[in-house]
Amino acid sequence: MAAEAIQKGPLDPRTIISFYHVELRYRDQAALSDVTFSITNGEFVCITGPSGAGKSSVLRLITMDLFPTKGQVVVRGMVSTKMKRSRIPHLRREIGFVFQDFRLLEDRSVYDNVAFAQLVVGVPKAARIKNVMRVLTQVGLWNKRDRLPQQLSGGEQQRVAIARAMVNSPKILLADEPTGNLDPVTAQEIIDLLFRINDGGTCVLFSTHDHEIVKTFGRRVMVVKDGGLVSDEQRRVLDRDQAPRLTDRMYQPEVQRD
Ligand SMILES: Nc1ncnc2c1ncn2[C@@H]1O[C@H](COP(=O)(O)OP(=O)(O)OP(=O)(O)O)[C@@H](O)[C@H]1O
Ligand SMILES: [Mg+2]
Repeated sequence: MAAEAIQKGPLDPRTIISFYHVELRYRDQAALSDVTFSITNGEFVCITGPSGAGKSSVLRLITMDLFPTKGQVVVRGMVSTKMKRSRIPHLRREIGFVFQDFRLLEDRSVYDNVAFAQLVVGVPKAARIKNVMRVLTQVGLWNKRDRLPQQLSGGEQQRVAIARAMVNSPKILLADEPTGNLDPVTAQEIIDLLFRINDGGTCVLFSTHDHEIVKTFGRRVMVVKDGGLVSDEQRRVLDRDQAPRLTDRMYQPEVQRD
């Protein structure tokens, strides 16, 4: 399946992100070398690997915050080697981004944190209100819309960050270690929320170095090590009610799982 995914290539009309023999160097040091893969519209992908492997670099190449030193990155038909600076805001509107440390505006309410992301792109007021209501309802926080971030739990803050990333209905949601600051139960809730977002048709790509999350993740898993893509595996899509979960292991440690 992995080989098939790679063969689909950038010319497949379903391809939304593709890397073509990408090398990334930070001054003298190679962070990624010869990385090639394609992601199809609507896929849900976990990118994993040890610290320093290159996970964040892959995500930053997709937002074209960084450009490859060799090879090509293509996102929604926009090609890194031909990208004009003036087109980058257009690309960024197609992508929502979630960080490990939430990065909310501490002096703004939950509502304003989410609404703000639309001001930047000039959404009219009536549509803004509707969109904020839609995404905050989706993440289960509409009733806490008047709170400040510090009045929320870590998991709730991350849900606000996800709502903010989704408010402009991006085609792609990128999340860099979205569960890195959360306990296992809350982490699973965030993964479940990403599943629901993916069910709605958004392509989701998240990074993690949490083995427990990777073990139970029943979709595509890409492993990066020392700057190379060492494995790209399409797992069986499990019915999520049957899939082993972090929470099961926490509450039923005696249950044997393979
Ligand atoms: N701004 C930078 N300048 C120089 N080297 C960098 C820079 N950012 C990352 N690197 C190096 O590039 C490599 C890949 O880093 P990257 O942040 O992509 O790894 P990662 O897999 O996200 O790691 P982590 O799990 O710790 O977040 C590392 O060796 C890192 O030291
Ligand atoms: Mg990282």
